[in-house]
Amino acid sequence: LNFLTPRKREEILELLIQGLERLEYRGYDSAGLAVDSANQGIDLLKQPGKVKNLREEIKSLKNQLNFEQVLDVHIGIAHTRWATHGVPSKVNTHPHRSNEDNEFVVVHNGIITNYKDVKQFLMKKGYSFESETDTEVIAKMIGHLRELHPIFSFRELVEHVIQHLEGAFALCFKSVHFPGEVVVARRGSPLVVGIKTKNKLNSDYVPVFNSRENRIHDNDMKATRSGLSRSDSDAEFLSLGENKEVEYFFASDASAIIEHTDRVIYLLDEDVASVNNDGIFRIHRMKQNHDDPLNREITTLKMEIQQIMKGNYSTFMQKEIFEQPESVFNTMRGRINFDNETVVLGGLKDHMNEIRRCRRLLLIACGTSYHSTIATRQLLEELTELPVMVDLASDFLDRNTPIFRDDICFFISQSGETADTLMALRYCKQHGALSVGFTNTVGSSICRESDCGVHINAGPEIGVASTKAYTSQMISLILFALMMSEDRVSAQPRRSEIIQGLHKLPDQIKEVLKLDDKIKEISKQIYDKKSLLVLGRGHNFATCLEGALKVKEITYMHSEGIMAGELKHGPLALVDKGMPIIMICIRDGVFSKCMNALQQVTAREGQPILICTKGDIEPQQFASMVFEVPHTVDCLSGLLTVIPLQMLSYHVAVLKGCNVDCPRNLAKSVTVE
Ligand code: G6P
Repeated sequence: LNFLTPRKREEILELLIQGLERLEYRGYDSAGLAVDSANQGIDLLKQPGKVKNLREEIKSLKNQLNFEQVLDVHIGIAHTRWATHGVPSKVNTHPHRSNEDNEFVVVHNGIITNYKDVKQFLMKKGYSFESETDTEVIAKMIGHLRELHPIFSFRELVEHVIQHLEGAFALCFKSVHFPGEVVVARRGSPLVVGIKTKNKLNSDYVPVFNSRENRIHDNDMKATRSGLSRSDSDAEFLSLGENKEVEYFFASDASAIIEHTDRVIYLLDEDVASVNNDGIFRIHRMKQNHDDPLNREITTLKMEIQQIMKGNYSTFMQKEIFEQPESVFNTMRGRINFDNETVVLGGLKDHMNEIRRCRRLLLIACGTSYHSTIATRQLLEELTELPVMVDLASDFLDRNTPIFRDDICFFISQSGETADTLMALRYCKQHGALSVGFTNTVGSSICRESDCGVHINAGPEIGVASTKAYTSQMISLILFALMMSEDRVSAQPRRSEIIQGLHKLPDQIKEVLKLDDKIKEISKQIYDKKSLLVLGRGHNFATCLEGALKVKEITYMHSEGIMAGELKHGPLALVDKGMPIIMICIRDGVFSKCMNALQQVTAREGQPILICTKGDIEPQQFASMVFEVPHTVDCLSGLLTVIPLQMLSYHVAVLKGCNVDCPRNLAKSVTVE
């Protein structure tokens, strides 16, 4: 960043730390930052563990760090890590450095797949490494290239470095050789630029430069930017005069910068952006293909800072569970007309003919998002009358699944950044299928790379364990099924009951949330158990998988979602009076089969906790404890039954003293394979 007004060093550090706190859901194994030191070098500060530890370390170094010093221009970089290569430790924490003098420092989000080769190459040249990370090769490489090409600009050095890298990255560099300058680059990992100015910007677009041609320009020769008809004044419009009256923020996502500015640019893969010490911002590309856009739009974010704050709740997860009456409504808002029972998903409108003619539907996702596809598969088959395949993105890729031009592929992802899902999307696009993104993050990679899509509009989800995104993903897929069956006369009664069911849903969720106290009490009876089974079938099989995943993720208790139809084929061996079992037994098409399973469990002295339809006495006689949920249409019941399980996992995690929002070893947004 450059400064609108001079700032104290203390403020700079605070700004970096605060940004990291907002990004903590991306990783919290360790945190570090780099700022200018008082003697023209670079100070590196690192701490394993949460950002809080780094904050405390900085506080303890108050005098040493010259808190009161005022700076006109300054670049600071910071990083919160989710370990891929190397254990969480101080030495593996970013920023990484080119040498002991910290000449170049870099932070990295992503994974460098050829780092071993690069490391070997550099070791042969005499470089030694201090960490086990893939990222350190980037820092050493730029140092090496600087020795070979001392006249290269900072940007040119970075461009050379990334030519040697394979894998995914968003990178941010700082150097003692280029004070006041920053260079960032992306390939495969997200990177957003925030721009804060006193004055209104005089354009909504930033031009893109071809690196090679511009290098001629840098050398003060006449530039001919073929294919890019820009004038010099266009190129430098972001210098905003001589006063450097602009601040730049670079981050993995907008939540880190939203409190400073709402004007952002989403960089694309292969973009290298830089700010020089005159405050001039530029975007370069190594190779500008014909169909690549010639500029990047500056967009205005609609996200409110309150939306990502905890409010009165003790954790984001709890807040997000309790937000579901509103979040499900927001998913439906403006899309369902409850009077004439029509459904329109604006993002798909223009593609409906193609979608209706398709050979089959493929739903591809990871984690909770994958469970939302299992939860809606039956209804999609029923209302679209198409073959519907659901796949885990990783497995889908492992199998090199055959894909055809007339396939329609859905990619469901809360973050829109999950590496496996994104790669599956690229694979399907390459095979000519239509790609449809279902994400909760406007501007995310999946949003931008898919041919069309649906925003699930659940609002920012920060807790690592996904809750409100799951219910909103289900609703988005249900809306799609309704839209597909609009013209089928025979489907009208079914559509009508579902649409009316959706209408009642927010109030019914409120009713389920009232079970919280009861669930808290029951949690006390199971929180010290070793294992928990969740049993159900039909529309609620996905609820079992998702409930068990929540328990696993945040309580570290072993938990399994079991298809009740499979009970006799193995899981029954686990049942005895000590094993906690939750059974979902709703008044739907599989009710009597669920009753069978319930009796088989009680016959083995199992003492099931039951989730059943409100007022339904019959299954309750077999249960040791009961959670009643209001009656709704069969295919919507999973939207209600999952909520007691979300609450249960939450309370068990609290009782066990686990960190609910940041479970060990997990990250919200998994941008590595
Ligand atoms: C991670 C998160 C999960 C999430 C999954 C898929 O594992 O911890 O909560 O369900 O990724 O993420 P996506 O953003 O693609 O929905």
